[in-house]
Amino acid sequence: MRGRFVTLEGVDGAGKSTHLDWIAGLIAAGGRKVVVTREPGGTPLGEELRKLLLAQPMHLETETLLMFAARREHLDRVILPALAAGTWVLSDRFTDATFAYQGGGRGLDPAKIERLETWVHPDLQPDLTLVFDLSVEEAKRRRLAASAAPDRFEQENLEFFARVRAMYLARAARYPQRMRLIDASRSVADIRKELEEYIVIACQ
Ligand code: TMP
Repeated sequence: MRGRFVTLEGVDGAGKSTHLDWIAGLIAAGGRKVVVTREPGGTPLGEELRKLLLAQPMHLETETLLMFAARREHLDRVILPALAAGTWVLSDRFTDATFAYQGGGRGLDPAKIERLETWVHPDLQPDLTLVFDLSVEEAKRRRLAASAAPDRFEQENLEFFARVRAMYLARAARYPQRMRLIDASRSVADIRKELEEYIVIACQ
């Protein structure tokens, strides 16, 4: 049986990384093998591209193409083989992030992103996407508390993150089957109670 593909999304600082390993543990406790990975990254080449993407100023379309170049490699080397072997894949971000950041945040025509999506993964969408939703002001407070040296994305202003968040909300409304909005302003315990419900359902 094919494994399930679960992705975590949200603006920087919404707290998805706090829950990543805990969700992996939950999936494993359900008797499934699980691979934890991230985008951009997840492969040696992808991690090199990540360094460039997080540090190097570049044209918006270059940025978008590099996100998809890293993704192509990630699909080939990690995601598709794992799913085919029956292993679950838990990825910290996937293509929804390109729509949110390059589309919403930076204003790239979503039709261009759709073309890349159709090219790079025509037959694959996550089975479940958990979108950690938080006000951009609170997300910024959490980022400042957590990160000493903000990367190129984390340095963006509140308006940028408001557009990113709005795109996540719009996509969650458009794809209610696979996308679940998580109110990330609550306590870790309350958030985990809700996450557990979604993972248990996905395990069935
Ligand atoms: P991370 O901090 O969640 O690991 O992600 C690194 C940054 O990359 C984050 O600020 C969001 C950004 N990003 C995009 O802009 N587009 C994408 O397609 C992906 C996967 C990430």
